[in-house]
Amino acid sequence: MNILKTHDELNAYRGTVRGTLGLVPTMGALHDGHMALVKAAREQCDTVIASIFVNPAQFAPHEDLDTYPRTLEEDIKKLESAGCDAVWAPGVEEMYPGDNMDSDIVPAAVSLPLEGEHRPHFFAGVVNVVSRLFDQVKPDSAFFGEKDYQQLQVIKHMVKDYDIPVDVIGVPIVRDENGLALSSRNRYLSAEEYEVAVHLNRILFAMAEKLRQGETIQDVKAEALLELQKAGFDSIDYCAVRDAETLLHSIHHPLRILAAVKIGTTRLIDNVGV
Ligand code: PAF
Repeated sequence: MNILKTHDELNAYRGTVRGTLGLVPTMGALHDGHMALVKAAREQCDTVIASIFVNPAQFAPHEDLDTYPRTLEEDIKKLESAGCDAVWAPGVEEMYPGDNMDSDIVPAAVSLPLEGEHRPHFFAGVVNVVSRLFDQVKPDSAFFGEKDYQQLQVIKHMVKDYDIPVDVIGVPIVRDENGLALSSRNRYLSAEEYEVAVHLNRILFAMAEKLRQGETIQDVKAEALLELQKAGFDSIDYCAVRDAETLLHSIHHPLRILAAVKIGTTRLIDNVGV
């Protein structure tokens, strides 16, 4: 597998690629959710590049940029065994020369609710780095996990609004044996916190079932908020039922249930389709 760390190395490799190219953008600390992205890319594209870059532009000053897990050696081994052809792992200077993180790309309106209200810096940082990655790697398709459901919608809007010729493909959430959505941040959870964390997916799946059976969104949400509190989450940023595409309030299907909660200092997000 080719490990590419500079623009020169990336450009030289890109010049050798024939056929379709799939990109799997990541921030490293890879788990089976990322491997599902590589697998989907492997099935659909002739060549697969994964990128590993912990993007400072999407972290607020009080967030976990400095402590975010960095496990490059292990990540490379995992990508190699998943059949990835190359890894694009630039340093910060390579991505943001002179520390200049300015960007002309503005996230679409779908970025404003939910995560946008609680992490106002986040989607500007994501579209900044993802547009740079698309420009650098020039993939035909790019693969993103549905765990970051709103991020996926924001990136789909970005390619449409800015006429970027990349097919953005969402890959279903991978869950552990207790249904917890895999996330690089799950490694922050203590054993006791994990016991609390697994309630999140159970409550969201129960909400989906109640909605299917005709209970009102208002009732289902009120019950879920009580259950989240009872389960021991320290705070609930949101637990919402929204239109699956626009993420606006709606009673029309398809709907998506999305939630963000905190246990101690760890923030978890999850979502379920209705
Ligand atoms: O989902 C992630 O890991 C990141 O937000 C992404 C898309 C790699 C951009 O840094």
